[in-house]
Amino acid sequence: KAYRASILYFSGPGQAVLESDGLLVVGPDAAGRQVVQAVQAVGPYQQLAPRFAHVPTEHFPGRIIAPGFVDMHIHYPQIDVIGSPAEGLLPWLENYTFPHEKRFSAHDYSAQAAMFFIAELLRNGVTTALAFATSHPESVNALFAEAQKSNLRLITGKVLMDQNSPDGVRDETEQSLLDTEALIRRWHGVDRLGYAITPRFVPSCSAAQLRGAGELAAKYPDVWIQSHVAENKDEVAWVKGLYPEARSYLSVYEQFGLMRPRAIYAHCIHFDDEDRALMRSTGAAAAVSPTSNLFLGSGFFDYEGADRVGFGYGLASDVGGGTSFSPFHTMLAAYYVGREGQTKPGVSLSPQHLWWQHTGGAAQALGLGGVVGNLLPGCEADFVVLNPQATPLLARKTAQAASLDELLFSMIVLGDDRLVERVVIAAPASAA
Ligand code: GUN
Ligand code: FE
Repeated sequence: KAYRASILYFSGPGQAVLESDGLLVVGPDAAGRQVVQAVQAVGPYQQLAPRFAHVPTEHFPGRIIAPGFVDMHIHYPQIDVIGSPAEGLLPWLENYTFPHEKRFSAHDYSAQAAMFFIAELLRNGVTTALAFATSHPESVNALFAEAQKSNLRLITGKVLMDQNSPDGVRDETEQSLLDTEALIRRWHGVDRLGYAITPRFVPSCSAAQLRGAGELAAKYPDVWIQSHVAENKDEVAWVKGLYPEARSYLSVYEQFGLMRPRAIYAHCIHFDDEDRALMRSTGAAAAVSPTSNLFLGSGFFDYEGADRVGFGYGLASDVGGGTSFSPFHTMLAAYYVGREGQTKPGVSLSPQHLWWQHTGGAAQALGLGGVVGNLLPGCEADFVVLNPQATPLLARKTAQAASLDELLFSMIVLGDDRLVERVVIAAPASAA
């Protein structure tokens, strides 16, 4: 099948190309996987049309086809926590987040929330997500089952939290590790699903639980790891009290074998260069969550520091600390945050780089570079169809864009779910 429209893709990191009259051809992936369609060709319509004349073509005049967005960090049980004001992270967790997460001990509650969550991701153009569930194994089953139905590329895991957490969400050390391994065996690599070993953060996990998580991470090297680090100053001070000998908060994760490629740490705000170097040398990556950091008053991710030392990162909503599912809102917040403390105009703030951070760059940070987040041949064919006429202001502004940067920036600043007219997941028609 082929799609004709303007097509946005990346020729390299942060280097966007807009094929104004383009053709995107998709078909069975090279590995012959039944559930995945891959990009076969992308380029100018005039050039490709003769070669693919026999392929049924859908035309979207005036629309832009772009890679589906990649959300590197989001909490599905926190859909109802969005917009809960608190004096910073720790009171927010105690007063809103933990009470909400308790509800996910009930399977039906989890299943309903999972259905809403997956629909909301898709409505906003997110086609790959790394998500926290809760500490209840059933919450993980519910989310995987729902993602499998829509063929969304979803990575999630049971949250590990055996201390400093209230009844109803606190788990038990040994059982939590047994549950984690059973869930890995049941779900990891099934269709487009992946498992992430999920210690919530250092304060909520005993040393035994962190050690066990690290052992599982070594035993299953292609499974992901997800956690939080250095988000908030009170949290950093708490970890210092728990591990006075540790060089830094981040180094506690390293000590337990939880830093390696496919280990994704949300926030990474209160870092020094040694922390940044540790991220780089271990191949771990950061999930930058600007709407959350602004909402909870956590601080500002240091883009300049990250680029200077050179570790991987990408964008994330962090709903419900974050305030929106929309990748456009997240990219705009990243622009605001990226400007803070910047000593020279940063390349990470250019519209093409912001967009890259939420698509191909995020995919690369997840270890899925060339798999999702782009529309080059071989990529899984997840894409959004954007309608730049979706609102009066968008129509007016995008019509005047004199360059690709201006066009992308108009959509970053003015866009939301209304801009996303359609989402196509890399599924054959029969499975869609
Ligand atoms: N640190 C530990 N748990 C959480 C959470 O649920 N959200 C955020 N933003 N930070 C955390
Ligand atoms: Fe989070």
